[in-house]
Amino acid sequence: MSVLKIDSSARLQDSNSRTISQYLTEKLAEQLDTQVVSRDLVKQPLPLINAADMMNLHASNDSDSETFAQHLTLSNTLIQELMDTDTLVLAAPMYNFGVPAVLKQWIDYVCRAGLTFKYGEQGPVGLTNIKRAFIITASGGAPVGSSMDFVSPYLAQICNFIGVQEIIQIDASGSKGDPQTIIADAKLQIDQALSNLNSEAVVGA
Ligand SMILES: Cc1cc2nc3c(=O)[nH]c(=O)nc-3n(C[C@H](O)[C@H](O)[C@H](O)COP(=O)(O)O)c2cc1C
Repeated sequence: MSVLKIDSSARLQDSNSRTISQYLTEKLAEQLDTQVVSRDLVKQPLPLINAADMMNLHASNDSDSETFAQHLTLSNTLIQELMDTDTLVLAAPMYNFGVPAVLKQWIDYVCRAGLTFKYGEQGPVGLTNIKRAFIITASGGAPVGSSMDFVSPYLAQICNFIGVQEIIQIDASGSKGDPQTIIADAKLQIDQALSNLNSEAVVGA
């Protein structure tokens, strides 16, 4: 099982979320002795899905449309990446209080009935085997966890929906201030979370 890193900041240089996701995945690779699969939604944008294809994709229906076949192939690839991971890293800048459009596109490609979730008698059931997700939220003036933050709770909801067992939130807010301070603080949060992972592994051994 690998670590899957999803980057979505439009800034390819000096991005807090990218710097932090890189630090985290290097540490995870070392600690879990595993490889990292990276998907960059800005360097490799996903195509937009038209309305009809979106409806069919979401419901896992068949369709004869040519564009649907392409979307289906891509969706299957992205879902396979999720199925092959036990640790997901979602690095999200806050744009207008929500997630970047490119990240929402990825979510629309991977949330598919019968594959990553299904509806049981008690409601939705997640179908991935992901043990944990790290959600890195980078923002400016809107504090992570505040009523203005529609990023971290939304991504937690998506993770719960597809069956992620544990969610670890990393707060990278305050980009109006010194980026070094934000990154240093996020690294502390990560080191703390990873030391908890270590002790859990020892308890479980
Ligand atoms: C288009 C755009 C919209 C933004 N909207 C918000 C916002 O609603 N709230 C906020 O606190 N910061 C907002 N910001 C600031 C970013 O969230 C902040 O700079 C963050 O660090 C970006 O992530 P990055 O450093 O990984 O690029 C916005 C920035 C951009 C470019």
